[in-house]
Amino acid sequence: MATPRQKLNTKEHKSKQKLTEAQIAVHWKEEGVFYPPKKFIEQANLTDPKVMERFSEKNFPKCFEEYAEMLSWYQRWKTVLDTSDPPFWKWFVGGKLNVCHNCVDRQLAKYKNKAALICVPEPEDEAPVAITYQELYSRVNELAALLRDFAGLKTGDRVTIHMPMIAELPITMLACARLGVVHSVVFGGFSGEACGLRAADSGSRVLVYADSYYRSGKLADHKAAADLAIEAAKREGQTIDKVLVWQRHPGKYGSASPMVKGRDYFINEVLKDFRGKRVEPVPMDAEAPLFLMYTSGTTGKPKGCQHRTGGYLAYVTGTSKYIQDIHPEDVYWCMADIGWITGHSYIVYGPLALAATSIIYEGIPIYPDAGRPWRIAERLNVNIFHTSPTAIRMLRKAGPDEPKKYNCHFKHMTTVGEPIEPEVWKWYYNAVGKGEAVIVDTWWQTENGGFLCSTKPAIDAMKPGSAGPGVPGIYPIIYDENKQEMPAGSQKAGNICIRNPWPGIFQTIWGDRDRFVRTYYQKYCKSPKSKDWRDWPYFAGDGALLAKDGYFRILGRVDDVINVAGHRLGTKELESACLTIPEVAEAAVVPVVDEIKGRVPEIYISLKPGVTTSAKEMTEKVTHTIETMIGKIARPKTVQIVPDMPKTRSGKIMRRVLAAISNRMDTGDITTLANSDIVEQIRELVQGRAVLPLQEGPEDIKRFGQEP
Ligand code: WT7
Repeated sequence: MATPRQKLNTKEHKSKQKLTEAQIAVHWKEEGVFYPPKKFIEQANLTDPKVMERFSEKNFPKCFEEYAEMLSWYQRWKTVLDTSDPPFWKWFVGGKLNVCHNCVDRQLAKYKNKAALICVPEPEDEAPVAITYQELYSRVNELAALLRDFAGLKTGDRVTIHMPMIAELPITMLACARLGVVHSVVFGGFSGEACGLRAADSGSRVLVYADSYYRSGKLADHKAAADLAIEAAKREGQTIDKVLVWQRHPGKYGSASPMVKGRDYFINEVLKDFRGKRVEPVPMDAEAPLFLMYTSGTTGKPKGCQHRTGGYLAYVTGTSKYIQDIHPEDVYWCMADIGWITGHSYIVYGPLALAATSIIYEGIPIYPDAGRPWRIAERLNVNIFHTSPTAIRMLRKAGPDEPKKYNCHFKHMTTVGEPIEPEVWKWYYNAVGKGEAVIVDTWWQTENGGFLCSTKPAIDAMKPGSAGPGVPGIYPIIYDENKQEMPAGSQKAGNICIRNPWPGIFQTIWGDRDRFVRTYYQKYCKSPKSKDWRDWPYFAGDGALLAKDGYFRILGRVDDVINVAGHRLGTKELESACLTIPEVAEAAVVPVVDEIKGRVPEIYISLKPGVTTSAKEMTEKVTHTIETMIGKIARPKTVQIVPDMPKTRSGKIMRRVLAAISNRMDTGDITTLANSDIVEQIRELVQGRAVLPLQEGPEDIKRFGQEP
């Protein structure tokens, strides 16, 4: 017999179904708009109102030559876009260039004594260190010589880099780029195990590490992760023969992990043999891979997104100039981690290609207090600031009035990585920007290389909570599940796609061409044999809404991916980790709304018969396993131990029902479950006995775990 509550749920679901079938109606209060300040417009790089015409379909793909021409080429390209093997687009074919030369060498003529990087240590009593373009040039050359002549790395080899936010990270990336060695940077917050699996997938035989770094006031041991990474890689059949270790305090080892003779080397010691060495940048084909960046998808195995040399650098340089409005005299601070795509594109490659001064901050935003970012900005005279909604929420909560205590003034601010709530946007605008700064809400993904949707800072009005239109040369479209275009102002959410290729799009998933086609192009491909790009829209995996004014509002992932603090976690990865625990019979991971991080994972497990371990012990085991196998970023909010999972008759776990319970939403129709009685039991376990009022819940959670 169904409980009264279940009946209620079922009835509600039915009455809503008329509206929600196939397309979801979204009630959205249109926000008022804000206009870019006059002072900003007067100095902006992009003010030509005709830019959208310049980048319109009739000028595609030639329009993107404007970005390629911002770079120095050894040899100019012959073909802008080659579509002969869809959807493996090729950009600037026949061109030759070197990324390191573009970001370092070519700046020396005008800017050799200008700061390229300013590195801010987390401990506030350690002074920031500025590295000029000349110093960067010397350090990158010496390291390139070491990588080539000591580590034996050649053009085309892959190297896995697992490092925190210190100067040596971009130096290592640039040294790789100089040699045409493909770097794969793994975010420092991932575990050694996670790093090892990625290293194995990419076929790296060399790891680059740092021994330690500061996090929340403590010196964290990082080299220990290298030992675990090597073991994990070995299990996958990949031998790592060298670990190159940067010391956070040169000459002082900050890790308890022993250095293995013949395998582990302190870079600062070996570098002594390479003092003053110069290495000519290797001219690379525009289509040669520049780097891999792993990201999570629907299945358990992370995808190595392979980015190209020419198209990628052209795209991040063009968008850094037009959307970030970077000029060489700007002091630019993107408070992301270089271990994510934002850091690659908009801390390292884009800003340096434009000869900007780019700031690298080692620590967490609120150490030692919520005034830290504003003190850094005041001291270094930062005028462009770039961060995520999670950081903005955190800073707002910890110190809503902090920004006004400091003499910091931004001309431009960015938000990226997750949808931003209009109230949070307004705090960013008023409190942080002091009403003087233009804000861009930039929507894009690891796969995309650079921005897809954003307002043009000196041209378009800003609308809190909406990313804006496609950036120049990007033609987004919203499709419903039946491949029908959903027109602007339809008030309904669909799947956002990009109709055209662009130079920043990744080349493929490393070693898995089929998965590349399947994941991103199969769903909306109009004709698999066609060589016309118009038949190959790119499926982004996000739900979105298009308003009458042409602004896109991004609602979040439509797949089994959880966006935690602006970073993607695959539910399957977490579930597989749980299943390695002997006591666990089944595991299901769902997103729950979190005030600061947007979403965090909640884990449901059921135990094997006869297991007597206590709930507390199991929670600790699960948390520990997740931290070891994936990393601290994936730590669950709660671990729920349930007697059984809600399942369909065919035995499939109904994650959407669990997600609804975790978020106190309507569980929908559960009459088709094989074991519908379990739903009320789980609800009581999670929410307690009282029947709490239901919440509407956000779009991504409503759709979570739903069959497409
Ligand atoms: C996912 C991509 C690309 C930078 C960092 C994240 C979400 C990204 C926005 C935005 C709403 C956003 C999407 C996307 N996302 N930017 N401005 N508004 N959502 O890279 O880890 O590849 O994650 O982040 O859901 O698919 P990522």
